[in-house]
Amino acid sequence: MAAQPLKCLVLGGDGVGPEVIAQAVRVLDWFRDVRGLPIALTEHPYGLSAWQTQGHILPAHTLQAVHDSDAILFGAIGGNYDGVPMQVRREGSVLRLRRELGLFANLRPVRHWPALDGAAPLRREVAGGADIALVRENTGGLYFGTPRGTETLPDGRKSAFNTQRYATDEIERVARFAFELARTRRNRLCSVDKSNVLETGVLWRETVTALHQREFADVALTHMLVDNCALQLVRAPTQFDVIVTDNMFGDILSDGAGAVSVSLGMLPSAALGALRADGRPAALYEPVHGSAPDIEGQGIANPIGAILSAALMLGHSAQLAAEAQLLERAVEAALDAGARTADIAAPGETPIGSVAMGDAILSALAALNSRA
Ligand code: NAI
Ligand code: MG
Repeated sequence: MAAQPLKCLVLGGDGVGPEVIAQAVRVLDWFRDVRGLPIALTEHPYGLSAWQTQGHILPAHTLQAVHDSDAILFGAIGGNYDGVPMQVRREGSVLRLRRELGLFANLRPVRHWPALDGAAPLRREVAGGADIALVRENTGGLYFGTPRGTETLPDGRKSAFNTQRYATDEIERVARFAFELARTRRNRLCSVDKSNVLETGVLWRETVTALHQREFADVALTHMLVDNCALQLVRAPTQFDVIVTDNMFGDILSDGAGAVSVSLGMLPSAALGALRADGRPAALYEPVHGSAPDIEGQGIANPIGAILSAALMLGHSAQLAAEAQLLERAVEAALDAGARTADIAAPGETPIGSVAMGDAILSALAALNSRA
């Protein structure tokens, strides 16, 4: 499509971030070299390694590259930041990146993988066919609200506080994103809130309902309380198509929904903002998991969450839905052929490492490509 190649900034970050992102980069290189994907990849330091070598978690030239890019592929940050001043940590945080780029919608797809049933926490009768697009509000709510802080009370006790605050426009833009996404899928949206207890929940439900009546009456809308949703996601996940919810509820529910996909290492995400002049959204793609310090440096992290994040980039930033589908089919084929990292291996299956999983997916891509 676009005459200009997609400028993709690669930020591996900390822990297993660089290990999984390296495999996603191999896959994007394949799409560029074999399928002619117009993409230019550049890599910059971010996280502990940047702090150690340059004194900043998010060095100025990395931040510049963030603003110059069309899409960011990001691993994870987190680890031993004990010696790093709080101010430096805040200025480099991924929350700041999301906020600075206006990435208000965090799309977290969760699906059932038939090949992994042997290692799955949910039975096939429960999870079979589940295919959920969870949309988390990403730049507001409890994680950003002020005032926030910790204080010492007159009697010496400590007290900490955060603020949950939402304005109608913040709710509307993420709900609009979710309604539009539902129209491209099975046309159903479930809005999740805590309107029985929280004022923000009441406003959330009112705002989503009003938008539905005004612009999206063709989409089947339901509402669910968040505590019930936590149960329904593992009890009957096939009832959901698109889910939209606030920042904290989305953070928690999406990890829980990961049970459908067997491992946190399988889950991709896209943080998306408003459409720019060129028709592409501001975008950051990252696996849902963190830096996994417990398995860092062992070469065993599952790269599929990162690779499926690259697939989301193909769909949403390169706007090549068929290429995104090709990559998802290749992941499925590699799993069907028995490729398993340790986190998704059933008893008796021999696990392979991150690079070998990258190899298996590249072989599957080559096979699918030669058949097409
Ligand atoms: P985590 O997601 O890093 O790890 C949770 C568990 O899942 C661990 O047992 C880990 O080994 C396993 N795991 C994670 N990714 C995996 C993969 N690709 N393959 C196989 N197993 C995998 O979450 P945790 O332990 O709560 O946090 C660790 C650090 O990551 C913390 O510093 C946290 O702040 C940070 N973090 C960063 C995020 C980000 O950068 N977006 C998101 C979540 C956590
Ligand atoms: Mg989380």
